[in-house]
Amino acid sequence: MELYPPGFSLTKEMRESLNPHKGAVVWFTGLSGSGKSTLANRLEVLLNKRGCRTYLLDGDSIRRGLNRDLGFSNQDRRENIRRCGEVAKLFQEAGIILLASFISPFEEDRGAIRNSLEPERFMEIFLDCPLSECEKRDTKGLYKKARAGLLKDFTGIDSPYEKPRNPDMVLKTGEIGIEEGVDRIISLLIQRRIIL
Ligand code: ADX
Repeated sequence: MELYPPGFSLTKEMRESLNPHKGAVVWFTGLSGSGKSTLANRLEVLLNKRGCRTYLLDGDSIRRGLNRDLGFSNQDRRENIRRCGEVAKLFQEAGIILLASFISPFEEDRGAIRNSLEPERFMEIFLDCPLSECEKRDTKGLYKKARAGLLKDFTGIDSPYEKPRNPDMVLKTGEIGIEEGVDRIISLLIQRRIIL
């Protein structure tokens, strides 16, 4: 395929100069029930209070729209994460702090997103919560359904989750609270000079 990307005039830096922060992607990965969306939601509220422009992408909502043609086979999950990675990349190019909350079970797919961004602009946050704890919480009742054989290919039960080998941060969400987790991510954003 021969494509000729147009040479548009405005750079990312020019877009960013309107904001008191840089564009970046904070990528939450972990089992269902590990706290990804809860943490992303709280982080977004605090960043908004600090005057940051943000957006939150999460599996349950994006699968109702953009990715409604995808299911939970390994292949579909890979395509889900590929598309969401592309969307995340566009948001950060627009100067926004994009919070992504997806199980994103495969190391290779998360690595591809990392490789497509400037290193300081991508933060992979691994919510390391034991399956037993996620299953105990079972906020959506999906583990129960999966154990009963009513839901196939459920992550951690009969579908794999590859733990990140080299994440930017590990949060043991079975042990620490939401505020502590969010505080640590804000410190990382400051250290990376994404926010002041
Ligand atoms: S991913 O594996 O492709 O990254 P994603 O984060 O988009 O998954 O979607 C996960 C959400 O879909 C879960 O939070 C859960 O509510 C819902 N879900 C429905 N079926 C499954 C399943 N078989 N495995 C995991 N999550 C499922």
